[in-house]
Amino acid sequence: MSSKSLYIHTIGCQMNVYDSEQIAARLSAMGYEQVSGPEAADLIILNTCTIRAKAEQKVYSFLGRLARLKANRSDMIIGVGGCVAQQDGNKILKRLPFVDIVFGTKAIDRLPAMIRIIESRQGPVVDIDLEHRQPASDFYEYNEQQSAVSRFVTIMRGCDNFCSYCVVPYVRGREVSREPQKIVEEIKHLVNTGVKEVTLLGQNVNSYGKKEDLCSFADLLSRINDIDGLLRIRFTTSHPKDLKSDLVGCFGHLEKLCRHIHLPVQSGSNAVLKNMNRKYTRELYLDKVAKLRDTCPDIALTSDIIVGFPGENDSDYEKTLELIKQVQFDGLFAFQYSDRPNARSVDFANKISEAEKKNRLQHLLAMQEDITKKKNQALVGSTQTVLVDGLSKKEIADRPKAELLPEQWAGRTSTNKIVNFDCDHNGQDRAAIIPGRLLDVRIEKAYFHSLQGKPVTVDTAAGDVKGANCYAA
Ligand code: SAH
Ligand code: SF4
Ligand code: F3S
Repeated sequence: MSSKSLYIHTIGCQMNVYDSEQIAARLSAMGYEQVSGPEAADLIILNTCTIRAKAEQKVYSFLGRLARLKANRSDMIIGVGGCVAQQDGNKILKRLPFVDIVFGTKAIDRLPAMIRIIESRQGPVVDIDLEHRQPASDFYEYNEQQSAVSRFVTIMRGCDNFCSYCVVPYVRGREVSREPQKIVEEIKHLVNTGVKEVTLLGQNVNSYGKKEDLCSFADLLSRINDIDGLLRIRFTTSHPKDLKSDLVGCFGHLEKLCRHIHLPVQSGSNAVLKNMNRKYTRELYLDKVAKLRDTCPDIALTSDIIVGFPGENDSDYEKTLELIKQVQFDGLFAFQYSDRPNARSVDFANKISEAEKKNRLQHLLAMQEDITKKKNQALVGSTQTVLVDGLSKKEIADRPKAELLPEQWAGRTSTNKIVNFDCDHNGQDRAAIIPGRLLDVRIEKAYFHSLQGKPVTVDTAAGDVKGANCYAA
């Protein structure tokens, strides 16, 4: 089998990251090896997102770049997959005739066959069949080349919630859960390749298994908690309407479950929440937060907010700000409302101007920045256990300039905060700081996006760590 080169560009959420890994695994079996840039690639796959208009614009501007590349390389194959592909299908080919393949969110298993069609010069092809059932093999494909400390694992696909602003149910189809034994098998395999942390993915993990009458999400977590060699479990996303006491309880008794929950509130106004079809009230949300904190007092909370939803008046917006002040989130992702194809809110009255949405967003983010900084600052002087990930991002960028300084490494706390820490490469820390290890770090400085610290005494005599400071992985 001759080796051909593949460049995958992923835009969008963690589900797309997981799907891109699945695409890479299938194409590696066809002899395609991944390269780090599009210029010399034989095959380019663009995995796309359409959650907001901006994400979609990003996709089309990247495709503009690819058009210029392909002008000089007519043999290059270009495939567009993911949520924009699902949404626009044939329209992509009409608008951009240099594209060879358009494959939707349920067509990943059929992608190799589509590529073979193009390789034999019989294209272009479009497959955006959403009803197509996953093959009996489920959708997980092993890829031995990829090893990392932390990996995503999709446990369910699609969404049945139809929040009025959201495109996901239209581009990802109806909610389907994977069988628990398949998920457990996949994680065991990952652990055998060196993975220490998994993040379970679903649009609403709380409804895991309900339709198919599998086990509950809490039961699934408990089964994953039993996997030897796995150190940490995370999940996203949890819908507040379905967050029940069994899942809250998991934060109290599953030792591998990280002390962090992403619980998107979207708005602090009941009127707006109703129009968003979120099916909970501000009071119910606050009650869930209180229960989580009762069970796990130092649990970190993050959330998503949409500002400028149609009809959101000043008082609705104020209620969102009040809720943010009250909850004191560790971090927030906030977005300006964006009209999406098929979403019900496109037809809602009283749209908010772009200028006003921008204003509201900036003000809200500035307020949250103070809260996040204050929360991070409170950790200065404490000792935090981090899962060592690798060299810090800054380190990878700057190393040639700073060769004589101690190396900067990075890891995350259980509460999902990034910690950068010095590792004196000539000194005693070096042998114990290994990706995939839990390491205690004393926090010395706090920033908005990260913390900075020093590893607590490390014994390198046996290349291992001592006492309760660090746990050998
Ligand atoms: N399933 C997850 C969210 C997935 S989309 C959940 O229900 O929480 C991620 C976030 O994008 C959403 O939480 C929402 O805050 C934001 N979002 C979705 N559609 C949007 C739109 N039309 N305009 C602006 N933000 C949007
Ligand atoms: Fe979209 Fe709502 Fe489903 Fe989340 S729960 S993916 S916001 S429809
Ligand atoms: Fe985007 Fe699709 Fe994810 S629209 S946010 S890539 S599910």
